[in-house]
Amino acid sequence: MSENKKLKFPDGFLWGASNSAYQIEGGCVNNWSEWEKVNAGRLAKEARGKWQLWQQEQFPEMFEAQNYISGRACDHYNLYEKDFDSAKELGHNAHRFSLEWSRIEPEEGKFSPEGIEHYRKVLQALRVRGIEPMVTLWHWTNPLWLEKKGGCESRDFAPALARYAQYAVEQLGDLAEFWVTLNEPTAVLAMAYVKGVWPPQKKNPVAVWRVYRHLARAHNLAYDAMHSVSEKFQVGFSHNMFYYEPNNHRSWLDRALVRVIEYFANERFFRMTPGKHDFIGLQYYFHSRFKFPGLLRNDNLDLNDLAWEIYPEGIYHLLKGLQKYNLPIYITENGLADKTDARREKFIKDHLAQVHRAIQEGVNVRGYLYWSLLDNFEWDKGFWPRFGLVAVDYQTLERKIRPSALKYAEICKNNSLDI
Ligand code: FCB
Repeated sequence: MSENKKLKFPDGFLWGASNSAYQIEGGCVNNWSEWEKVNAGRLAKEARGKWQLWQQEQFPEMFEAQNYISGRACDHYNLYEKDFDSAKELGHNAHRFSLEWSRIEPEEGKFSPEGIEHYRKVLQALRVRGIEPMVTLWHWTNPLWLEKKGGCESRDFAPALARYAQYAVEQLGDLAEFWVTLNEPTAVLAMAYVKGVWPPQKKNPVAVWRVYRHLARAHNLAYDAMHSVSEKFQVGFSHNMFYYEPNNHRSWLDRALVRVIEYFANERFFRMTPGKHDFIGLQYYFHSRFKFPGLLRNDNLDLNDLAWEIYPEGIYHLLKGLQKYNLPIYITENGLADKTDARREKFIKDHLAQVHRAIQEGVNVRGYLYWSLLDNFEWDKGFWPRFGLVAVDYQTLERKIRPSALKYAEICKNNSLDI
């Protein structure tokens, strides 16, 4: 007979979910909202060549241009109290969200009192529900004035982010201790400047180096600016890390290739921002195997709705690798696109079991924030991928808690996982 085991998490562990402004608020005006207007039709047309047949059958909305227009999204801008009621009901004691920079600084150097007032209310709404906020400053969207100057390619990007960071903590710092400067800087590098598929769609090696430098500088300057206001702030960034493996562990060519890729994707940003981390935000979605000279086709058939491989063990290896930095680690994103909700509960439990394994081996993990609280606008893929613990009907804006969310709630409330 198999025995039940209880995996207990450390006291004070943060449990909750993440979201970002542009993906849920609605009514955002920034570099992405401008880009989507020009590209929605093209993205709808390209869907047939891009997605597999089973995905096309399950998600016919991918052929409609409307799918790629964020519009009012989940109208979270107006419905945040309702959404935080759900988070509370689900036993969450933490929540990560992002500020929409363009609402706070609609014109260069001119901060908007209404913009900041809105986020004070958002933070207060979390606090009264006993939910610890974690605030992201930059979740990929640039105000238009900055985009006009070249966005992340502009020399002004880093000082502008630092100025906005300082203002944000001066105005909101009494309500939030945890701050994420940048969300996944390397994802923007890869998708916007290496592959050239996200705005500003610049496939250019010179831009890659420039943007890498600017993002790292932005983090460093923002870190210092926020600490100049108060040492109490916990400042870090959220890192999209891949678990890479050599196809053949005995092949030195495969191993060398993995090392090089790991360096650029996982390590380099840390090296460019030494001493500027109070914690590490780990975001885990991907596992890849390399066979020299390239990437191996994924032969794992356990896939999410986006055909991303499900590989829970990867998070354990990444956590072990991060141990050398000797910093508290929060998992600031990990989640599954699963419209039918058939696999989300298992996904969460399998990943948490691996997180627990790392904790048992001494890794200082202090929180897990599932991506995401709500279904949302998934960037260039639009609305069809469904990551939410809470399903959203985009016609009526009705919210419905998914069954897996209730299972996750038990874990959050008990601070332990039964397996
Ligand atoms: C992450 C992003 C987040 C969301 C998830 C699925 O890379 O930070 O906004 O799109 O992927």
